[in-house]
Amino acid sequence: MITQTTDPSPALPQTIWYMGVKTRVLDNFLDQVLQDNVPRGGTVLDLFSGTGVVSAYCSQHFRTLSNDSQLYSKVLASAFIEHDPSNKGPFLDSLNFEEDLKSAFEANQDQLHSLFGPELEKEKTCLEAFSWEREKGRRLGLSADIEAIEVYRKFLSENRVLYGHSADRSQNSELKSAWELVGEKSLDTYRSQVHQTPAVLVTAYYAHIYFSLKQAIAIDSLRHAISKLETTEDPVLKRKAQHYLACLLHVASVSTSGTSHFAQPRHLNKDSEIRSLAKRRSLDILEGFLETSSNLKNYLRSIELQTGNRSFRGDYRSLIEDAPSGPRYKAEAQSDLVYMDPPYTSDNYSRFYHVLEVLAEYDYPKLQRDKQGKVLRGRYPQIEQRFQSGFCSTGKVEQEFTYALSAAARSGATSVISYSYPTGLLLKLYSKKQQDPLEEFKKLCGQFYKEVELHKRSMMHSGQGDRNLAIDEILLVGKGSRK
Ligand SMILES: C[S@@+](CC[C@H](N)C(=O)[O-])C[C@H]1O[C@@H](n2cnc3c(N)ncnc32)[C@H](O)[C@@H]1O
Repeated sequence: MITQTTDPSPALPQTIWYMGVKTRVLDNFLDQVLQDNVPRGGTVLDLFSGTGVVSAYCSQHFRTLSNDSQLYSKVLASAFIEHDPSNKGPFLDSLNFEEDLKSAFEANQDQLHSLFGPELEKEKTCLEAFSWEREKGRRLGLSADIEAIEVYRKFLSENRVLYGHSADRSQNSELKSAWELVGEKSLDTYRSQVHQTPAVLVTAYYAHIYFSLKQAIAIDSLRHAISKLETTEDPVLKRKAQHYLACLLHVASVSTSGTSHFAQPRHLNKDSEIRSLAKRRSLDILEGFLETSSNLKNYLRSIELQTGNRSFRGDYRSLIEDAPSGPRYKAEAQSDLVYMDPPYTSDNYSRFYHVLEVLAEYDYPKLQRDKQGKVLRGRYPQIEQRFQSGFCSTGKVEQEFTYALSAAARSGATSVISYSYPTGLLLKLYSKKQQDPLEEFKKLCGQFYKEVELHKRSMMHSGQGDRNLAIDEILLVGKGSRK
């Protein structure tokens, strides 16, 4: 039973757009389960931290450790939780775009603007023809944009994509140097010297796919300026880089001209799709970045953080060691409560959010190609470079839960699992075998814990493919380890 009543609206940071984000689940549900089960001064391990919102909540109440297989996720969690309360204020005051990033940002942007000048001009003309540019603030229907849609569709259909293009465009003298810069030979040199300038990864791979050309150049230029901070020896500048990279990931997430992720770009046949795409592509990246930074600073100023928080990046198994008595958490990952919110469908996050991972890594990965050697529409890195989760595999999901629960129980930690009913992969498997899915799930947990509780809350789902589906958000709690 949930006993405590907590603050009805805890201060939470803005998050990236993410399948399965737990912002709504925290409010008066997960927050209460956490408050009921973590001792005062205790530690929580958020094993699959995603956007970092649960870690952000926890870090205001408990010492918090976060982990995720994705680098972007570690960066976000780090920007939320890894602050020393004694110098958080001065650190936040010291963040200053003009001093920290502006000159490197502008130098990279100027170089790319001069190379891609004619393309940028054409794109600008197309995007400025849309109604929200003409009639700022007025809500106009699709019909107001029919002409602009046609012009932009034509523009995009004219072999605009930069990297992985089949046509030979080297004869086009106006853009010759630009095409060369994003050609395979040039990108191979970037792959061996990732800090070479101008930074051009997002422009080459995703302009006219997930972002406008102008947006892609701005993202590359901000990333370039951030990597200059990352590569110094100064720990304060490195910390600043985490803050700025988290803000850049955020603005890239909410500017995608895919729907709300990067699994596939939109098709160009429907007018409404072109219009939505143009609207997203008209967002100003620098403006969004500065606003995100300011919001994050305000959030961090408004809260009190516990000390000793830390973020990890890796398969959750990397935090566990196989002791003679069985798996248990390594010393640095010991906690009082392990919160597990793994994927609940067969969709790997590394596919839906590959652009964020590439932006965080920024190492010009080779892209996946089809049998004919053509870069795939979604522009994913090659499969070997994308993390494949056992929780997304029908053959492995039960094994993963068993391992994660046994390690937590053996380490003396309470387990709290978030999952979705009836859509969770493991629950579907139990149903297929004619078993009662929730009873089986409880039994699995009961192998390692003396006491098992199940909490449910009905919600409309926000995941992919099952949007607006009524589901139960489940919290399965295991306490009192059998060891
Ligand atoms: C449902 S999301 C977590 C959402 C998060 N609680 C939030 O509120 O934003 C699941 C996360 O698990 C991560 N993940 C999947 N398999 C993993 C594994 N084996 N080890 C670590 N992280 C994993 C994914 O990258 C994804 O971010």
